[in-house]
Amino acid sequence: MTAIHGEHADSAILAARNRENVMVGGEIVRHRRASRWIHWSVATTFILALITGMPIWTPIFRWMANLVGGLEVARVIHPYVSVAFFIVSVMQFFHWASDMKFTPDERGWWRPSKLWAYMRYEDDPAVEGGKYNGGQKFFFYSVTLGALAFLVSGLIMWFPLGFSPIVRELSILVHDLVFILFLIAIIFHVYLGTIAEPGTLRSMMRGTVTRSWARLHHPGWFRQVTKS
Ligand code: HEM
Repeated sequence: MTAIHGEHADSAILAARNRENVMVGGEIVRHRRASRWIHWSVATTFILALITGMPIWTPIFRWMANLVGGLEVARVIHPYVSVAFFIVSVMQFFHWASDMKFTPDERGWWRPSKLWAYMRYEDDPAVEGGKYNGGQKFFFYSVTLGALAFLVSGLIMWFPLGFSPIVRELSILVHDLVFILFLIAIIFHVYLGTIAEPGTLRSMMRGTVTRSWARLHHPGWFRQVTKS
């Protein structure tokens, strides 16, 4: 234990400020502080875009606008928080891109049959893999592409006078379609990152995971980190 600012922080928390993929005091640092800040900025701006966008979309969700002070406020805020969401998503993309390269045995992860098997835990749990599995990499590229599609279609709706009616109609369609797919993906993501796989949320809060979590979910990464 080390005393900082009158509180106590253990060695793993201190290491997790700027190091990751290292073992400290029996725990493994998975996400250093910068990664956690970027991820939570993406999550926060996404939720703000969600609660300001859904009441604009349909009256069923109009009550959500009350959370930000009414529909007119939601309309004004939505494009700005969405641009902020895009900017932090791009930062997240470059921050994690090097860990997200598909290995030859992960090809074909985008296939619905493969994704379905992953969601049902039917894929081989003993497969070695790296820091992230194929499903996580697929999710990573999908949300980045989704963020780009949101931006382009959103800018067209924000400045409609510069575009023809057909382009405007298409942008609404794209924005709504991406939104529905995005929401489904995020619901699964939050479920997997919290209750479905205990010990995962801790990696984004505290920065660390247990040895058994790493060995179970990412055996290849566990071997690299522990050099076992
Ligand atoms: C709001 C609730 C959210 C929770 C509780 C959550 C939780 C987590 C956790 C625990 C991880 C670490 C997984 C690991 O280390 O293996 C993670 C990773 C990640 N998160 Fe989130 N997240 C949330 C929202 C979002 C949103 C809104 C996005 C994107 C728009 C996002 C994108 C990602 C990506 C790309 C990764 C890395 C790949 C992966 O692990 O799937 N997250 N998240």
